[in-house]
Amino acid sequence: MHTAVMEMFGLEAPIFAFSHCRDVVAAVSRSGGMGTLGTSHFTAAQLELELKWLDENTNGKPYGVDVLFPAKQPKEYENITPDTVINYLPEEHRDFVAALLQKHNVAEFTHEESEAIFRDYMSNLTRTHREAEKRLEVVYRHPLARMIVSALGAPPQHVIERAHAQSLKVAGLIGHPKHAKTQVDAGVDIVVAQGWEAAGHTGEISTLVLVPEVVDLVAPVPVLAAGGIGNGRQMVAALALGAQGVWTGTVWLGTVESEVIPELKKKLFAATSSDTLRSRCGTGKPARRLRSAWVEAWEAKDAPEALRMPLQSMLVNEALERIVRFRSDALLSYPAGQVVGQLREETTVKQVVYDMLIEFSDTLERLNHTVEN
Ligand SMILES: Cc1cc2nc3c(=O)[nH]c(=O)nc-3n(C[C@H](O)[C@H](O)[C@H](O)COP(=O)(O)O)c2cc1C
Repeated sequence: MHTAVMEMFGLEAPIFAFSHCRDVVAAVSRSGGMGTLGTSHFTAAQLELELKWLDENTNGKPYGVDVLFPAKQPKEYENITPDTVINYLPEEHRDFVAALLQKHNVAEFTHEESEAIFRDYMSNLTRTHREAEKRLEVVYRHPLARMIVSALGAPPQHVIERAHAQSLKVAGLIGHPKHAKTQVDAGVDIVVAQGWEAAGHTGEISTLVLVPEVVDLVAPVPVLAAGGIGNGRQMVAALALGAQGVWTGTVWLGTVESEVIPELKKKLFAATSSDTLRSRCGTGKPARRLRSAWVEAWEAKDAPEALRMPLQSMLVNEALERIVRFRSDALLSYPAGQVVGQLREETTVKQVVYDMLIEFSDTLERLNHTVEN
C-alpha cells in the first residue's frame, strides 16, 4: 500500500492516532503508523520531558504533536488568574456543579489540594497563540517530531513557515468544508477531515459526507479521514472516499497502553454506539463524550447553559478531577466517539493495528471478488 501521506513520513500503514498518552503514541509509531501526542495537558517544561521520552521509545520512527491554536477569544480571558477566576464563573453555575457532585456523594479535596490542582491546571491551559508557540519551541528541538497538528483553527502564517523551514509537516483538523479552505489557504500540508461521529470537538457533518467533499475541495492536498474509524472495513471506506489515510482516537482508549483508568475502561467496553453525546459541558464547545450522569445533567432542561471556552473548563476542571480521583461510577465520562460500540475488551496497540490491516486486506479481496463476479 502506498499513499501520499505514507511517503511523506515513511510509514508502513496509513494509520494516524491521536492520544494524550505517550505510550499509545510511541506504540502506534513503532507499529508502522504515526502516533500524535495531544499537548493540551502539558506545560512547555512537561512537554519537553514527554518528547524526550518519545524520542527514546519510538525505535527512531516519527511522531506528531497536536497543538491547539484557539480561534480568537476576548482578550480579558487571557489574563484570568487563579485569584480572579471566580469573577468569571457565575454563582448559578458553581452551585449547579456543587449540587451535582453532592447528589452523587463525590468526596471533596482538601483546600490545599484544590488550590494546587487549580493552579496547575491554569498554568497548563493553552489560551493564546503565544502559549501555543511556546510549546512549539519545544517541538522544534525534537527531530523525530515530524508533524504539527492544529485543531480549533489554522496556525498563523509565520508558524507554518517556521515549521516548514524545520522540515515539519503541518496538518489542520476541520469539521466543515469552509474550514478546510481556510487551512489550505494558510498553507497546511495535510487536512484532517473529522466527521461528527468522532470523539472530542466535532462539527455536524458525518464522515461519509464530509470526506469526499473536502477531498475534492482541497486537491491535491492530501486528506486524512477521521471520525468513526476503528476497523479495517472502515479504513477501506475512508480510502474509497479519497482519503490518503485514517486519523483515529477512540479505538486506542481500550488498549493496555492507554491512560484510561480501569473503571472507565469497563464503561467504554459496555457502551454501545449510541452511548455518546455531543455536549458543551467539558470545554464550552460541542464535544462528543461518553454518556454519563455528568453529561446528562448538563444536557437536562433545568441545567444552566455551558459557559464559553475557556471559562467552562475552568468551571468544571476540579469537578472532573474529583470524579476520577474518587471513582464516581455514575459521573465518570471521557471524550469518546461512536466507534466506542466496537470496543469489547482490553487489547494492545499492536493488535489493533494488526487487526485493522488484516481486515483492510480481507475487505479489499472481498470487494475485488464481488466486482469480478
Ligand atoms: C480522549 C480523546 C481526547 C481528544 N482530545 C483532542 C484534542 O485535545 N485535540 C484534538 O485535536 N483532537 C482531540 N480528539 C479527537 C481526535 O483527534 C480524533 O479526531 C478523533 O478521536 C477521531 O474520531 P474517532 O474518535 O471516531 O476515532 C480527542 C479524542 C479522544 C478519544
